[in-house]
Amino acid sequence: KKIALVAGGYSGEYVISIGTAQTIEKNLDPERFEVYKIIINAEAWWHETADGGKVNVDKNDFSITVDGRHITFDAVFIAVHGSPGEDGKLQGYLDMLRIPYTTCNSIVSALTFNKSFCNKVVKDHHIVNIANSVVLYKHASYSLGAVFEQLKLPVFVKPNESGSSLGVSKVTAPEQLVGAIEKAFSEDSQVLIEEFIGGRELTIGVYSLKGQVYTLPATEIVSKNEFFDYEAKYTVGVTNEITPAPVDSHISGQLNRKAEAIYQQLNCRGVVRMDFILEEKTNELYFLEVNTMPGQSENSIVPQQVRAAGMDLETFYGNLLDEILA
Ligand code: DAL
Ligand code: MG
Repeated sequence: KKIALVAGGYSGEYVISIGTAQTIEKNLDPERFEVYKIIINAEAWWHETADGGKVNVDKNDFSITVDGRHITFDAVFIAVHGSPGEDGKLQGYLDMLRIPYTTCNSIVSALTFNKSFCNKVVKDHHIVNIANSVVLYKHASYSLGAVFEQLKLPVFVKPNESGSSLGVSKVTAPEQLVGAIEKAFSEDSQVLIEEFIGGRELTIGVYSLKGQVYTLPATEIVSKNEFFDYEAKYTVGVTNEITPAPVDSHISGQLNRKAEAIYQQLNCRGVVRMDFILEEKTNELYFLEVNTMPGQSENSIVPQQVRAAGMDLETFYGNLLDEILA
């Protein structure tokens, strides 16, 4: 089967995506899959040929022509974080061409990529606690007084649509709020301000095969930084990631059940990773977000969890492809 492995993207997570695609490429069985890596950025979509040449993708049918050979794809393995691979745009385009792909569909990707919309939908299902929050819009005026009336410090200020903690700040004193909002607005036109939930950060991979939803062993993230920011996510030694997370069986059972329920209720597909906080005071789980295109560099969390589950990545990725090729 011919597989396009798409990497890059239009966001600040371009470099992270290249790392994710490397892991996936290394772990796709060459006997079963003929893999063509396609890199996209805002200017071009291209395939690099074996001799280092570049051929542009024909966007009419998502095909490439290599040495006079016209190649179309049986499926697309999406490895793009942020836009357009995690926000539903690439998915919508591939739907129109009727080419199957490995991730959630376009509406689910778009919904989960918008943190405030996703919070509203998840809240509706009464599965898990969610922090109080407010959303600000760049072109509408906002009042800091109203924010302070609705939320208690500390708060997290985040671009509503982004990943890898780009543009995210933790605000502990009132005078820091404006700067944090401006920083988040530099990444996105909507800003989400959420009350800080003190506790342990847990994250869990979830996927489905043949209609059955499975969880991977969860990971506890212990960061030396103030929070799990960009540096902590991608610098070796700043963060301790413990897989499986050392939580008692009652908590890990709850985490599995809630993560599976959210996956099902949101109608997810492929492998996603859900982030939670186990609140210290109440020992209750709070939902943070769903990442429908989780980082999969060699040492990223999802590959760690796959290994901790006793699976190899080749089987895992092969299964994800078989699921959509069937
Ligand atoms: N946005 C990064 C890649 C993640 O969620 O893993
Ligand atoms: Mg994220």
